[in-house]
Amino acid sequence: SITHVILTGGVGSRLWPLSRKSQPKQYLDLFDGKSLFEMTVDRNRTLVDTVMVVGNTDNCHLSRKVLEKSGTDYVDIIESTPRNTAAAIAFAAFASDSDAILVVTPSDHIIDEVEHYEQSIKEAIEKASRGFIVTFGIVPTKPETGYGYIERKGEDVLSFREKPNKVSAKDFIEKGNFLWNSGMFCFKAGVFLEELQLYNPEVYEKSKAAWDTNIDGKLDLELSLAIPSISVDYAVMERSRKIKVVSSEFIWSDLGSFESVYDYLVSKGHPVDANGNMVIGTDAYTAFVGLKNTIFVSTESANLILQKESSQEVKNVYNELERKK
Ligand code: GDD
Ligand code: MG
Repeated sequence: SITHVILTGGVGSRLWPLSRKSQPKQYLDLFDGKSLFEMTVDRNRTLVDTVMVVGNTDNCHLSRKVLEKSGTDYVDIIESTPRNTAAAIAFAAFASDSDAILVVTPSDHIIDEVEHYEQSIKEAIEKASRGFIVTFGIVPTKPETGYGYIERKGEDVLSFREKPNKVSAKDFIEKGNFLWNSGMFCFKAGVFLEELQLYNPEVYEKSKAAWDTNIDGKLDLELSLAIPSISVDYAVMERSRKIKVVSSEFIWSDLGSFESVYDYLVSKGHPVDANGNMVIGTDAYTAFVGLKNTIFVSTESANLILQKESSQEVKNVYNELERKK
């Protein structure tokens, strides 16, 4: 059987103040009256047999609302605290038969051109059924440092490099045989767990201990806090030798930072002034003087002004505010 595992644990801190802990970006009705979460469920509906949501106590009611509206049956895994994606995916794998194929996706991406998407998923499922861990590669357009890079030869992955520095990212782009990791994965539950156990036994053991005592899919806080917080990219993808890549032609955007939101909005015709400045969130007339490539984000309770190139640093503001609480 094929299960769509939806990761929805992140708060999207790089999109503060649009995205908040109480209202993470994947649940905002940003596009066509639908949230990114709802679009994620819809896009995969016909490709899978079951849906599993890995979320948390702060947002599980938001997922439930969407899934119940469409009458979707689903399995709920509720983290008491986020422990990053290695653990989140491990819980989904522990909850599945070891032969079940998991299609793991974030819930906060924009994907256009559904035919290409479906084609990629089908190819990935075929490779996963042969025991591989499949990544989805996107042709890179710039030396973005917030992504993982897949060095490949055909479907074979020579190396996986998570969040390189600028110099390496530029080098990868020049070399030409690197793709961006889209952050979606496909594998048999059992294969993933074997690789996790091999390359990060601590995450494996501690996630298992937390999972084994779950109550209706809800994880114990203390056992969860013991799990190292590490992303699946570092824990497994950079190290496993069973990785394959499906080179994907669908239009993909990780609305992960204001820079990618900016690019996406520009592609949709959202206005910028002659110096590349953009306003998000207010219709009030706004003027920029002596500024270039800045983004002004306005919400009811907070404003943000940033240099587009500094988008990755917005999470520091969020972290600082959390710390002061
Ligand atoms: N349930 C759960 N628990 N979900 C989580 C957790 C967690 O603790 N942490 C993150 N997630 C979810 C996020 O909500 C998001 O949907 C997804 O997992 C990926 O996490 P991000 O924090 O957004 O990762 P990233 O953007 O820095 O990097 C990943 O995605 C890039 C593409 O968007 C990596 O896979 C990169 O290699 C990739 O290029
Ligand atoms: Mg992301």
